[in-house]
Amino acid sequence: MLKQTNYLTKVYGLPEGWMLAAYEREARGYQAARKALTTMSPADVITEAKKANIRGRGGAGFPMGVKWSFMRPHPTKPAYLVINADEGEPGTHKDRTLMELNPHACIEGCIIGCYAIGAHAAYIYVRDELHLSKARLWGAIKEAKAKGYLGKNPFGKDYPVEVYVHTGAGAYICGEETSLLNSLEGKRGEPRLKPPFPAQAGAFGCPTTVNNLETIAAVPTAFNLGCEEFSKLSSIHHLNDGGVRLFGVNGHVKKPGVYECCVGLTLRELVYDLGGGLLDDKALHSIIPGGSSTPVLRADDIVDAPDEKSPLHAWHGKSVLDVPLGVDTFRNMGTMLGTCCATVMAEGTDPVACFHNLMQFYRHESCGQCTPCREGSGWLLRIAEKLMDGTCSMEELNTLHDVANGIMGNTICAFGEGTAMPALGYLKKFRKDFEAYVKGERTANDARLTVSNVWGQS
Ligand SMILES: Cc1cc2nc3c(=O)[nH]c(=O)nc-3n(C[C@H](O)[C@H](O)[C@H](O)COP(=O)(O)O)c2cc1C
Repeated sequence: MLKQTNYLTKVYGLPEGWMLAAYEREARGYQAARKALTTMSPADVITEAKKANIRGRGGAGFPMGVKWSFMRPHPTKPAYLVINADEGEPGTHKDRTLMELNPHACIEGCIIGCYAIGAHAAYIYVRDELHLSKARLWGAIKEAKAKGYLGKNPFGKDYPVEVYVHTGAGAYICGEETSLLNSLEGKRGEPRLKPPFPAQAGAFGCPTTVNNLETIAAVPTAFNLGCEEFSKLSSIHHLNDGGVRLFGVNGHVKKPGVYECCVGLTLRELVYDLGGGLLDDKALHSIIPGGSSTPVLRADDIVDAPDEKSPLHAWHGKSVLDVPLGVDTFRNMGTMLGTCCATVMAEGTDPVACFHNLMQFYRHESCGQCTPCREGSGWLLRIAEKLMDGTCSMEELNTLHDVANGIMGNTICAFGEGTAMPALGYLKKFRKDFEAYVKGERTANDARLTVSNVWGQS
């Protein structure tokens, strides 16, 4: 059910809504951090945080409170909180709004997070081109320090907390948490082998928690409401998917944007009620639900979940558009919730051109460290180019499966899956369109205009 909220976005439209005065006046600013630091132990903060059932907003959907509980004090090393605001996933545009329009929620979340995990410093990793985001975050840090909310004695407590904004050079792979840590340390942004996981050896070899920016910005709201109450705002909190989140919608819709709603919103509500429906009132063709790495859904896809134990069983036989947007619900549909920013494509969109566009991105962004990804992404792009050129044979099209499957599970990080899964998804869902290219029934000229305002002309 559509339930729009304004906890994180209350200050978005206000004059100087990004300033401390607005945050304190309108959004109970810094009350949650004050309460946590002055009345709770770090262990209590983690216990409370778990009740919020916040699934990580960066893509993988790992429970936030559980991740915090992995941190163990080290006898000699400090702990760090690292906030992932890299947001390089095509179609994803939510974290930027938080940094620009509600930076204090990000800083307050960092204070609570640092205290919970035993860290005294948080780094927010932002790509360089986001000048306004960086300026607003630094502005918020300055204001919070001047008020005594950050620094040596936040809220009078003898628990120093500092927050820094760290600039990344803008590579998609640096959004992967261990590449990000390497980049933060001034090294080449390549993923690390796990284990050790960041909680054991993260930034500078020290215990580290990496949280997405929206994940951490949701923490003050959860604590202000009470974490259990926050979780119950979601219509699928029984699936351990709680609270409110930012839903993005972009592509061929009338009102692209970022909307805050209770978890459990459906794609139909996102596209038609919030996104205003399709441009020129066209019919819906397909949706990429949560950033370019998440496999595409067709408008006519139906849920197939006869097993009563499936989290999807309640929607068996219904349209995928009517399934609540949740981490487990979407995983069980063969796709992913990802970043929860949906890319909408109208009737007439050429799926093969979309596939080509995607493969250009992944080929370009592969860091090259793992051979299956470095070479496989190149092969996938070459198949896509041959399709667009009209020179791809059926035999070559059939190699697409093998190439994509050769990447999956054979790389250090999930970039490999992020490349292979959408490729396989497009082929599975739109096989006839791919074959039309092979048979010469369709050419790139037929497709050129249809993907232009989804991710740009290919
Ligand atoms: C190639 C790649 C890019 C990623 N980019 C981002 C990103 O831009 N922002 C983000 O928060 N997580 C990104 N992730 C996921 C992170 O590795 C990590 O799971 C996340 O930051 C953890 O935060 P969360 O638990 O709050 O979601 C990416 C993962 C991969 C494999």
